[in-house]
This record gives sequence, C-alpha cells and structure tokens, in this order.
Amino acid sequence: MLAGGGAQPEARLLSRIIDTISAGLDLDRILQGVADLVTETTATDVCFVHLVDEQGRRLHLRGATPPFDEMVGQIELALGEGVSGWVADHGEPVVIVGDKTADPRYRYIPALRGEDYTSMLSVPVVTPLGHLVGVINVHTKARREFTAADVDLLRSVAGLVAGAIENARLHERLAEREEALERFAEQTVEWQENESRRLAGEIHDGISQRIVSLFFHLSAAADSLENAPQVAAEQIARAQELAAAALDETRLAIAGLRPTVLDDLGLAASLESLGHSFPGLPVRVEATRDRMSEHVETAVYRTAQEALQNVAKHSRAQSVRIRLSAPPGRVMLEVTDDGAGFDPAAVRAARPGRGGPTGFGLSGMAERAELLGGKLELISAPGRGTTVRLVLPLAQHAGG
Ligand SMILES: Nc1ncnc2c1ncn2[C@@H]1O[C@H](COP(=O)(O)OP(=O)(O)O)[C@@H](O)[C@H]1O
Ligand SMILES: [Mg+2]
Repeated sequence: MLAGGGAQPEARLLSRIIDTISAGLDLDRILQGVADLVTETTATDVCFVHLVDEQGRRLHLRGATPPFDEMVGQIELALGEGVSGWVADHGEPVVIVGDKTADPRYRYIPALRGEDYTSMLSVPVVTPLGHLVGVINVHTKARREFTAADVDLLRSVAGLVAGAIENARLHERLAEREEALERFAEQTVEWQENESRRLAGEIHDGISQRIVSLFFHLSAAADSLENAPQVAAEQIARAQELAAAALDETRLAIAGLRPTVLDDLGLAASLESLGHSFPGLPVRVEATRDRMSEHVETAVYRTAQEALQNVAKHSRAQSVRIRLSAPPGRVMLEVTDDGAGFDPAAVRAARPGRGGPTGFGLSGMAERAELLGGKLELISAPGRGTTVRLVLPLAQHAGG
C-alpha cells in the first residue's frame, strides 16, 4: 500500500497516528499533528484539514502544514463550495492531477496559493457511524498521478482520526458549557445580592419611613388626647392609614421576592391581576403569549410591577397599557402611560451606579434585563408619557 510497501512502514504509520490522536483532547494540536503526519506519509507537500461546523453548513480550516498553518481559523467555505465543499457534500474523494482551474468544482483562494501546486487529493473525514466531520486535502508541487492506493491510504488515515476529532470536539463543547454554567452561577449570586439590596431598599425607603411617621402621629395623638381629643382622633386616623400603607408595602416587597401568583395563574393573568392592584389607575393588559421559562416570566412580571409602581408614584397618568408580545425568539413587554413623562438621560445622570436611596427601580430593571441577555429601554419625555420596554431572548433549550 505504502510507497516502499511491506508491513513495517504501515505498522509505523499506525502507531504514529495513534500517538497523534491520543496526545490529548486539544483539538488544534491533534489537527496540526494530523496535517504533518499526512504530508509525510503520503509524500505530498502540503495538507489542509477542514472541519464542518456545528450546523453542518460550513467548512473551517482548522489544521494545515506550514506555511499555511498561519491561515488556520481564517478560511471558511460553504458546503458545496470549492473542491473541499464538494467532497463534504458528496462524501466522495476527488483527485485532480493537473489544471485545477479547468475543474468547475475548483475555487481559487489567493491565500492558499493554489497556483504553486499542481495535483491534489481530497477525501472526506467520516466517523465509523457515518457522521461527516470534515475534509482532508493534500497537494503536490510536482504533477502526481494519485493512485487508488493513495486514495485508500488517505481514507484510512481520515477514518482513524475521525473518531479522535469527534471526541475532541465533544470535549471542547463540554468545556464551553461548563464555562457557561460557571458564568451563570456567578450571575445568580450577583442577582441574589441585588435582590437583597432591593429588599433592603424597599424596607428602608418605604416601610421603615412609614413606621417612623406612624410613631410620630401616635405620639402626637397621645399628647393631645386630654386637651384636644379632636386632634388626637385625626392623628390616630393618619396613623391607621400609615399602618395600612406599611402593610401594603410589606406585601409588595414580599411578592417581589417570589411572585407565587405566576405559578397559580400564568404570566398573562398575573399581569392582569397586577393591573387591578392599583386602585384608581385603569390598566389595560394585552397579552399574546403566556407560558415561558420561569426566570423569564419572573423578570417580565417584576419589570411590569416596578414600572406600574413608578406610574402610580410619579406619572399622574390617566391610564396605562401593558402589552406582552412575542417577536421571533424573544418576548417583549411594554408598559405605557399617558402621564407626565420625564427625561431618562437626566435621571440616569443624576444617579450613576446603583444603591442610592431610591436607585432600585429603573437601574434594577435594567440590570435584571441585562442579566438575562436582554435590554430595557425607556421611551419618555416631559409631557409625553412614558413607555418602559423590556425585550428578553426566550431561553434556548440546552442540549444539541
Ligand atoms: N412612568 C413614569 N412617569 C414619570 N416619571 C417617571 C416614571 N418612571 C420613572 N420616572 C422618573 O424616574 C425616576 C427614577 O425612577 P426609579 O428608578 O424607579 O426610582 P424611584 O421610583 O424610587 O424614584 C423617578 O424618580 C421619576 O422621576
Ligand atoms: Mg421606582
């Protein structure tokens, strides 16, 4: 089979291939080693190893002998494009002995200096289970009549390395996923910290302020009980209102921790019910989409909740519209009021960073959106009402 024939060189080749492919799971090193080994054993001048991408649509140059090792990572072909693309597409080898440019499959890529090479052999790299992994090409400067034996040899080598390449790719993918998980864990911890900060803010700004003034009203009532019972009664009525408000705010803060209503009603109905929790503010809800992954639902609900609180607190709006829609692959929430509006840039400039006494609202919403790979937009101007728009990617299923 080999030039020189005999069992000895074949055994040597086999053992070198095994050395190369078992050298570790670093795909780039394996491919480099394969390219070197292939040129040597086929007595050719250069070798290119192209791999098919995850989608099975394009070939990427991942291994090459010098001087083309510099081009690794920079050359890409569509399946069906050029000789390599044809080989990948058809799963059959191609031999071109001379005059490549006359072959309709050939595509000239200046960086690969096709004009310096005369003959070429290209074989598909296929796993034992028939899965196409890539294409290996060898080229010679001098004209060479590649024989059936040459083709067979290169195909056997390709078959041997196919499994190793696939393993290394699986390993690569696992490592990527592990990294993504780590990032996710970090973000989750950060999110939890933000949640604690938000809760602290709500307790500090809302609930404890109410209790402080509750205390003053009760003291005033106590002082005037004897001499001015009418004033005492007024102070007690004020205190009752404050106690009720503190209770409401406590409930809201807790609901913000985990909106259980989502599990019971689903997102659309939860938004509807949220809309009814602001007396005197008519809220219209339009939802064209209901169930989605839990964390997306929570983020949408929270954003709606905080946006509505802002409307109630700052806008003096006559009415509000909540719209939940689903452009492809995404979910979009818009909370639009017809109130006073404001200058978002001025608000941002006034409160750089987070953590100011009232800085939990808008910045908290934006942070949550970012964490989920989406964004929050504020469309507002004084006198023009406000739209808070949240766009989130719908989580793609892990796997595959
Ligand atoms: N819907 C709205 N209408 C008018 N002004 C708003 C609206 N939403 C937010 N704002 C303005 O943006 C500021 C920042 O909002 P936010 O970050 O939620 O903090 P807070 O509500 O604690 O003031 C508000 O103080 C207000 O001036
Ligand atoms: Mg707010």
